[in-house]
Order: sequence, then structure tokens, then C-alpha cells
Amino acid sequence: MTSDNEQKIAATLERLHGTQDLAGIEAIRVEALGKQGWLNQLMKTLGKMSPEERQVEGPRLQGMRTRISEALDERKATIEAAELERRLATEVLDLTLPAPEAPAGSVHPVSQVMDELAEIFADLGFSVATGPEIEDDWHNFTALNMAETHPARAMHDTFYFPESDAVTIPASSSEAVGEKRRMLLRTHTSPVQIRAMVEQGAPIRLIAPGRVYRSDSDATHTPMFHQIEGLVIDRDIHLGHLKWTLETFLKAFFEREDIVLRLRPSYFPFTEPSVEVDVGWRDVDGRRALGGDGDAPGHGWMELLGSGMVNARVIEFAGLDPQEWQGFAFGVGVDRLAMLKYGMDDLRAFFDGDQRWLAHYGFSPFDQPTLSGGVGARA
Ligand code: PHE
Repeated sequence: MTSDNEQKIAATLERLHGTQDLAGIEAIRVEALGKQGWLNQLMKTLGKMSPEERQVEGPRLQGMRTRISEALDERKATIEAAELERRLATEVLDLTLPAPEAPAGSVHPVSQVMDELAEIFADLGFSVATGPEIEDDWHNFTALNMAETHPARAMHDTFYFPESDAVTIPASSSEAVGEKRRMLLRTHTSPVQIRAMVEQGAPIRLIAPGRVYRSDSDATHTPMFHQIEGLVIDRDIHLGHLKWTLETFLKAFFEREDIVLRLRPSYFPFTEPSVEVDVGWRDVDGRRALGGDGDAPGHGWMELLGSGMVNARVIEFAGLDPQEWQGFAFGVGVDRLAMLKYGMDDLRAFFDGDQRWLAHYGFSPFDQPTLSGGVGARA
């Protein structure tokens, strides 16, 4: 019987050696060590033995179990290692190969400018926030102090979703239960102001870049364009903070000190007072340069952004106490910033997807904007 067992073990180990995959190993394990396996059958014979026999046979059978079990583990490890080696050998990537000449992608100027802005504002302690492009009219208008009958709503050339897509505020909400909200494509990034105040409370220092939509189309307007919203909410914030922030940002963005800003009193329902900001530019030898002034030919002002002190009513709509918290906000056209800085003159080309345009105006992925290296460095 003993030599029988020895033979069985020898046969098992030999089969194990010839097994090349994990499924084969598992089959052998079940056959030998499983509940119905032959070793268990042998174990059962212990019960019929005399105590003396059992004292000898018991440890021997245990020893057999250990030997087989260890051999199984060992073979399994060997096969797994071989499998890994095989994969590593086939999945090689030769990093010394040069990148192919074509097709070569490039970073779109809009993405590049957004990265530049994020870099500049991060340095001023601003974080980046986002909001949905499919917005409801409460966030896009009402909470921004534009009641349903407010004339400014009509000025936004809004793309509305059908009335049947309106959402009703569920009973689980803490406010405005049962109110119907019409869905639309956001007409500006300002609804992110509301979302941020509602969600984070104060103080706040953020920028919110993103796509916005208005039913409008010519050389300087496309139905979809990009804005970046800025919002600061804190105690004792005043117009001086706004002016300094805009000047600092535009100087860093255009990488020149001779930026001339023109602040004009303006009107937005969500800011009071409101300030519209133009930047001066000069055409030098057909090349745009900033810092020009006056209305001489080739000189001019580019309307760049709307801004102002956040209207107390807006702060209230967002659930904060306007006695305690004040702030400023601004909204900038990102595409316009790109046009002004990199010299394109037709906004529509931004979104045509023309390879030649993209190759000409696009940026290398290696051209990461940094404040030390220059936010607009071009390879
Ligand atoms: N949301 C305004 C627009 O799209 C811009 C703006 C933002 C004005 C923030 C004031 C404050 O025209």
C-alpha cells in the first residue's frame, strides 16, 4: 500500500510537471486534494486502523498532502511567472522611436488659452469650478436677478428646450418645491456663480471656464462660444479689488506691462455697479499689439469682458447674507482673448475643424503654460 501511494504521488507530480496552464493545475488539485479526491479517500481508511497503525499512517498521509499541495503551489507560481514574462515580452513599447511626422495633433487655441487662464488665476488663489451646459432658467436667469419678465432675458437669444422638458422641483428639495424650471443651453457661465455659492457657501475665489450658447452668428459671433467666469465672495470686497485683479490678469495674459484698460459704466442685472472693460490695441505692421489708444485708424478698443460687484439680491438668491458677504464677478470671452493674443480675425474658423487652420494656430502639447516659462510661449 505504501509503495502504491508513493507511485500515486510520483504520477501526480509528473503530471503536474507536464501541465502548462492554470486550469490543468486546478484539475489535478481537485483529483488529489478535493473532497472526493484520492487522498481524502485514503484519509477515510484511518478510521478503520488500529491506534498504532494510525499513529504511523496519519502523519504519513498528512505529509503526502503537504508535498502535493506545495508542488501545486510551486507549479502555479512557475506558470504565472512564465505567463507574465510572455506578456511583458509582447507588450514592448520602444520609447526611443521618434514620433511619426503625421498625423500630428495640436492643442486648440481655446484649450491653450483656458490653460493659460487657469495658470494665471491659480497663482492668485483661484480654483476652477464647472457647471452644466444644459441649465435651468432659475440658475441661468432668475437667481441672477433676471425675473421672468426681465427684458435682459430676451437679449440673450436663448436656445430653449421644449416646455415638455421642464423640471419640477421635487418634494425632497429644501426649497422652491413644485416650482417649474424651463431647461435651456446656458447663455453665459454666470449660473456657475449661483451653483458655487449654494454648494460651497462663502468665502469663494473661483474661475469657471466653459462653453456657452446663443442664437447668434457672424464673423465675431458663433452660436457656441467660450467664457470664463470669475467670482470672488468675501468680507469687505470692493471695486478696487476687481480693478486690480483684472489688470493683473490681463498683464499676465498678454505678457506685457503696457496694457491699457478702459472701464465703462454698464448694466448687468446681476452686478451693481457694473463695469464693462475694453482693452486698447494697435495694429503695428499688420501685427496686433496691445496698449494702443485713441480712435486713429489701426487703433481701437476691443470689448473684452463684463464685470461688477455682485448684486446683493444675487447673494441673497444663493442663500448668503449680503450684509456679511460681498464680492465681484466678471465674465470674459475666451475666444476673443485668443483672437486678440494670437491674431486670428474670424471667430467662425475656430470651430470649422480645418486641419490647415489647426496646424497653423494650434499649440504643441509640450507647450504647457507656466508663469515662469511664459503663459503664451510658443514652440
Ligand atoms: N454674464 C455676462 C455676459 O455673458 C458677463 C458678466 C459676468 C458680467 C459677470 C458681469 C459679471 O455678458
